[in-house]
Amino acid sequence: MLKIQEFSKCYFVKNYWDFLLVAECGMMKIIKVKDNEELSLKALEIVLDVMNSHETPVLGLATGSSPQLMYRYLVDKYRQKEISFANTITFNLDEYVGLSPENAFSYHYYMNENLFDKVDMAEDNIHIPNGLAENLKMECNRFEAEIKKHGPIHLQILGVGLNGHIGFNEPGTSFESRTHIATLEESTRQANSRFFSSIDEVPKEALTMGIGTIMEAEQIVLLVQGEHKKAILHEIVHGEVSEQVPASVLQLHPNALVITDLDV
Ligand code: GLP
Repeated sequence: MLKIQEFSKCYFVKNYWDFLLVAECGMMKIIKVKDNEELSLKALEIVLDVMNSHETPVLGLATGSSPQLMYRYLVDKYRQKEISFANTITFNLDEYVGLSPENAFSYHYYMNENLFDKVDMAEDNIHIPNGLAENLKMECNRFEAEIKKHGPIHLQILGVGLNGHIGFNEPGTSFESRTHIATLEESTRQANSRFFSSIDEVPKEALTMGIGTIMEAEQIVLLVQGEHKKAILHEIVHGEVSEQVPASVLQLHPNALVITDLDV
């Protein structure tokens, strides 16, 4: 059984005249699930809903362990001929600088392995920042222009890092940021080293959709699983909206949902 909690909160922002202004009233929905399977099935349901309700669905995708089982379920649906990705356009959140799509540690490789190679996605509809581009700044602008051309993103799937990062937007990143080159925190490199053979192989930089870019998605679903994320999830949902906790920005989004196996 899914339990839905709704948190409605108003918060205040201090402007430079030191007046208190009501910035916005946000609402973050939370769905509590019992385990990763239920989390992935719930996320699957939302993705299918978006795919079925748009002629050309535009999905924002994430990597990492959080969405992995959901991708497997999507592949199953495709194999059972219940869905087609032929008209789906995708944008991935991020990619490591210096890793090619053939590199088993790259996010491009992850996406091919977990989804793209197993379904009928058209190559031209796949958008992942190119971490090998000669001019990385130009690559960020190109990626951002592609989102503008095909957007808005109907549904953005997110995971979260232990320090609250979304994509590779580390604490301190401006809420207005667009796709940019990010320097990874040592704690992020350490956490992500579990996917690499050693920490030395974890790149120090990545290209990431900005927080401003992410916030333009029509709907956002944040997947949070595991006791180790309990403290950061509490801050994201109940803490103040702060650039020090990037995912707390979701409190400002009109259609953001957290699916989690944690009590918050
Ligand atoms: C990485 C990615 C994020 C992801 C996060 C959490 O740093 N850049 O997009 O959300 O890790 O990953 P996981 O789902 O494995 O906990």
